Amino acid sequence: MDMNKEIAYKASDADRMIYKFLPAEKGYQKTLFEAMNYSVMAGGKRIRPILMIETYKLFGGSSQALEPFVAAIEMIHTYSLVHDDLPAMDNDELRRGKPTTHAKYGEAMGILAGDGLLNYAFEVALGALDVESDSRAVARALQVLAHKAGINGMIGGQVVDVESEKQYGISKNRLDFIYELKTGALIEASMMIGAILGGATDDEVAQIEQVAAKIGLAFQIQDDILDVIGDAQTLGKAVGSDEKNQKATYVIFAGVDKAKQEVADLTDEAVGILQDLPYENPFLTELLRWLVRRDK
Ligand code: IPE
Ligand code: IPE
Ligand code: MG
Ligand code: MG
Ligand code: MG
Repeated sequence: MDMNKEIAYKASDADRMIYKFLPAEKGYQKTLFEAMNYSVMAGGKRIRPILMIETYKLFGGSSQALEPFVAAIEMIHTYSLVHDDLPAMDNDELRRGKPTTHAKYGEAMGILAGDGLLNYAFEVALGALDVESDSRAVARALQVLAHKAGINGMIGGQVVDVESEKQYGISKNRLDFIYELKTGALIEASMMIGAILGGATDDEVAQIEQVAAKIGLAFQIQDDILDVIGDAQTLGKAVGSDEKNQKATYVIFAGVDKAKQEVADLTDEAVGILQDLPYENPFLTELLRWLVRRDK
């Protein structure tokens, strides 16, 4: 399997689902719509949508509710990046190979485009109730989305991340907390929602949550590694952002080699749990393994 090719193909599939729901750029708030669409359409690997779709396929899903949730998770992820890049947060000017949203549209519009994407994501996801008769599954998926994006999920992690700047002596537990929440939570939401809409039992959803938690942690450690040894052109974002902001990262904590080993170990553990399920999706397994090797 040529993974780069395969992923590009899956990403364009995801794009088709996401673009369907983007707002038309007209009306008095046209600038807001443009800034929202600019951020989403700038690119991105679409890892979360692909994880959602492939986990859904793992359970043999056939729900009409999938597409709105695919769009919603990428909107929420994109909003998290738009706000993460703001001057008050990581203060970055390049994202997905383009000027960050605030660099292009100004800070006020960067804040509002993020707010817009977050709120609109829930409008879009709620639309699943109109196309899927199993409203219990849709409600459960909405609960997961709200929880994992929120104060005990991604936002909670970003708070502790910001408060831990210049704190190189922070404990491993606090570092784990940051990673599990700021990055792990949305990866967990992606895979759990795929499982729920695919028809998984509660136990299976819990098992998928464990897989995703490990992958989320590995994903953020790899992101930190790439911030040190990656290439800005390939990444589409500046390298050295963590050093600039004096972030406490796994790389600072343990060094690049140990961090790499941790990514590999976490991935093995995740694949092990995935393979305990009585279903198979070889592409999903390969994707989890590819995330360790990624250079962007
Ligand atoms: C970047 O996420 C932020 C992190 C949580 C590490 P991605 O690496 O998935 O960014 P895009 O979506 O491909 O731009
Ligand atoms: C971001 O972590 C996590 C988010 C929730 C956005 P980083 O700050 O390391 O992500 P990048 O490196 O800017 O993409
Ligand atoms: Mg950050
Ligand atoms: Mg950042
Ligand atoms: Mg980073």
